[in-house]
Amino acid sequence: MSDEADANRVAGWFGDCYGRQPEGVWQAPGRANLIGEHTDYNQGWVLPFALDRGVLVAAACRHDGMLVIRSRQAPGEPATLPLATVAPGRVTGWAAYPAGVAWALREAGHPVGGASLAIDSTLPQGAGLSSSAALECAVALALTGLYGLDVPRPDLAILARRAENDFVGVPSGIMDQSASLLCQASHALLLDCRSGEGSAVPLEPAAAGLALLIVDTGARHALGDGRYALRRGECDQAAGELGVRCLRDVADAAAADGLADPVLRRRARHVVTENHRVTQAAAMLRAGGLAGAGALLSASHTSLRDDFEVSWPEADTTVDAALEAGALGARMMGGGFGGSVIALVPAAQDAVRAAIGERYARLGWPAPGFLDAPPSASARRLR
Ligand code: GLA
Repeated sequence: MSDEADANRVAGWFGDCYGRQPEGVWQAPGRANLIGEHTDYNQGWVLPFALDRGVLVAAACRHDGMLVIRSRQAPGEPATLPLATVAPGRVTGWAAYPAGVAWALREAGHPVGGASLAIDSTLPQGAGLSSSAALECAVALALTGLYGLDVPRPDLAILARRAENDFVGVPSGIMDQSASLLCQASHALLLDCRSGEGSAVPLEPAAAGLALLIVDTGARHALGDGRYALRRGECDQAAGELGVRCLRDVADAAAADGLADPVLRRRARHVVTENHRVTQAAAMLRAGGLAGAGALLSASHTSLRDDFEVSWPEADTTVDAALEAGALGARMMGGGFGGSVIALVPAAQDAVRAAIGERYARLGWPAPGFLDAPPSASARRLR
C-alpha cells in the first residue's frame, strides 16, 4: 500500500474518532535483522533494515493536558491519561507504549503537551518484526512533530527504548528503535551498539537477482516472559567471569573457552562469533557479495540454535526446508522462542515458499505467513 493511501486511511479514522482533522500523520517501520542477534545488549554490532510496513499515527495537539490514545488493533474505549500523572506502573497494556514515550520525552526535558492519537498498524502482530518499537518511534515522531521539537534521531531512539525498558518494563536492546529511526531505503544499518555510531551498508537483493523473504512461523513469543532477561543475565555473568565489561570486549571465541560453566561458555561463544559474522557480512555487502553472505546467515542460525538456545521447532524446520529448496541462507530472527525466519532466496522464490508450506502441512502446523522484505526507508512524516 502507498504512503498516501496509508495516510488517508488513518487520517480518515482519526476524523471518525475525534470529529476533526489530524495536524499530521507519521509512519515508523518495523524491522528485519539481516544478522547480529543478541549482540545489541552486549554492546556489539547489528545489521538490521527497515521493512515497508509499520505503525501509523495520526495526531493533533490538545490543550487540556490529556493524552488520548486509540488503536485500531485494540477496539474499544480509548486510553485517556492526564499527562502530568503518567508514570511507570500507572499504565498497563498496549497504551503503556505510547504513554511511555510521552513520559520519556518529558523526563528528558522535552516539553510535549497533550495530544489525541489514532494508531493503526500494517505489521503482523507478534511476528517478531518489532511492532512495539515501530509504535514507540511513530509516537515519538508525532509528539515531537506536533510540538515543534527538534530531537536528533539517535537520541529519539534512546528515549523510545527507555519507554520500553523503564516504563513498559521490557528489557530490550537498542537495535529495534535504531532500525526504525535510522535505516535508509536499499540499505541495512551497521550499528555499533557501544558507540551508537551507525553507517548505511548497501543492501539491494533485487539487483543481485535475489530477495529477502520473511517467514512468520506462527509461533508467538513475548520478550517479557523472562527467557530473554535470563539470556541477558547469562551474558553479563560470562563477561564478569572473563573480566571484561561486556562480551563485545572478548576478541575471539577461544577466549570464551576459558569459562568453567558449559552453558556460559556456549552463550559467550554465540555472542563473540556473531559479532564476527556481522562485521564479515557488512564487508561482503560493501564489496557487492550479498550471495556469499547467505552462509553467514545459516551459521548464525546454528549458533542461535545450539549455543544460545533461543530457536524453536518451527524456525528450525523453516530454515532446513528453505535451504533444501535453494535458499542461499536462512536463520531465525529477533529475540527467539517464536516469531519469524529471514531467508536469502533467489528472486524466483516459489519453490522455497512451496517447500516450507508443504513441510508445515505435513507436520500438521498452521500455514506460515510469507512477507517480502525489501530494505525500506526509516520513520517519517507522511503529511
Ligand atoms: C529483540 C530485542 C532487541 C534484540 C533482539 C535480539 O528484538 O528487542 O533489542 O536484543 O531481540 O537480537
